[in-house]
Amino acid sequence: MTNKIAVIGLGKAGLPIASVIADSGFEVIGVDIDERKCADINSGKNPIPEEMGLGELIKRHGGKDLIATTRYDDAKECEVFIIIVPLFTDENNNPDYRIIESAFRNVGRLLNKGDLVVLETSVPPKTTEERARKWLEEESGLALGEFYLAYSPERIMTGFSISRLEKFPKVVGGVNKESGQKAFVTYQKFIPNLHLVSSARVAEFIKIAEGCYRDVNIGLANELFKIADELDVNFYEARTYANHEYCHIHLPSTGVGGHCIPVYPWFLVNDMEKRGKFDYAKLLRTAREINDEMIEYWAEKIVLELECMETNRPLNELKICVKGISFREGVKELYHSRNLALAKLLMERGLDVYVYDELYSSEEVGEMGLRWIEPEDADLVFDSFRLTLKARE
Ligand SMILES: NC(=O)c1ccc[n+]([C@@H]2O[C@H](COP(=O)([O-])OP(=O)(O)OC[C@H]3O[C@@H](n4cnc5c(N)ncnc54)[C@H](O)[C@@H]3O)[C@@H](O)[C@H]2O)c1
Repeated sequence: MTNKIAVIGLGKAGLPIASVIADSGFEVIGVDIDERKCADINSGKNPIPEEMGLGELIKRHGGKDLIATTRYDDAKECEVFIIIVPLFTDENNNPDYRIIESAFRNVGRLLNKGDLVVLETSVPPKTTEERARKWLEEESGLALGEFYLAYSPERIMTGFSISRLEKFPKVVGGVNKESGQKAFVTYQKFIPNLHLVSSARVAEFIKIAEGCYRDVNIGLANELFKIADELDVNFYEARTYANHEYCHIHLPSTGVGGHCIPVYPWFLVNDMEKRGKFDYAKLLRTAREINDEMIEYWAEKIVLELECMETNRPLNELKICVKGISFREGVKELYHSRNLALAKLLMERGLDVYVYDELYSSEEVGEMGLRWIEPEDADLVFDSFRLTLKARE
């Protein structure tokens, strides 16, 4: 095996693993369609400043043993290809495979006998064995067995990705036994806490199951929070003492955002429904609905709070500040952000809505078609991360 590994996709998930591989003594060719990002990495500049420890690794390896490029051909000497590009979903929550397919077909054109390809993007179970295998075989003219193919889900959390890669258990599974073994031996060289599972399909399912667990448990927390509120029970006090070794009630929220958790349950719900197994994923669908509907609940609470304010001004003249618009505190990402959706819902209801988020400047907020405000200048502040409502005194 040569010392060269290609990582396709240098985003929040791909760049940390590419850097960790480079730091383990490999030469890494990172392929990304974003020219500016490649230039930054090659000059030692970290394009994801919120990622702890990444800056140091990029400074050490960027442009040296971590070369970023927009040309797939630059990776032709690699014998290992790790693919971690996004998978978006359409309006019916069905996966749109175009980006992954393009990455696989490009890698397929470079593939030689004995090479290993590992997919890390979260995908519906069987994607690697059915789609990825076909794309590689069509482009390379090789058959599985002449190359190896495996799946290993990313289990990072933006901000903590480097430590996760160093400590958190990572799993890998092959589309056949030899591929699993080959991927396991290769990944052991840069992932300390690695587990080989019986197939790519199991490894894919592990990642999706984890997302479903989070979504269902957040749905449960949201439901219990609403019930507690209705019964005039302090949810947080109850949660503190309800939780123990066998009970972990999650925190309530405005819903679930980001690329992952709100998307994965649909992979299983849609698949089961296509098979006519409507009852199999009922809980997953319900949790999705509960979480998505939380913005309606909070909009109602906000309106009630406005109505209780002692002022002679009409409701639509009271300035509301939604404090926190990213999907998660501390992560500058708006994908599926329920906080942003809440702000928009309040606007649709004719209220005077502004937003504030320490990660976004007033200009950036303006570019989103929203208005920025300092929380102290608003009549009512809804802190979307702490779920508190505070009226101006
Ligand atoms: N970010 C996370 O916390 C996280 C956690 C677990 C799993 N994941 C998985 O990782 C995947 C990627 O997520 P991300 O956060 O890195 O996304 P991202 O948007 O931060 O980065 C994706 C990168 O892929 C590049 N890209 C797009 N099309 C390409 C192509 N055809 N060839 C090469 N590069 C291409 C983009 O330019 C971008 O740099 C997700 O779909 C998810 O399945 C992410």
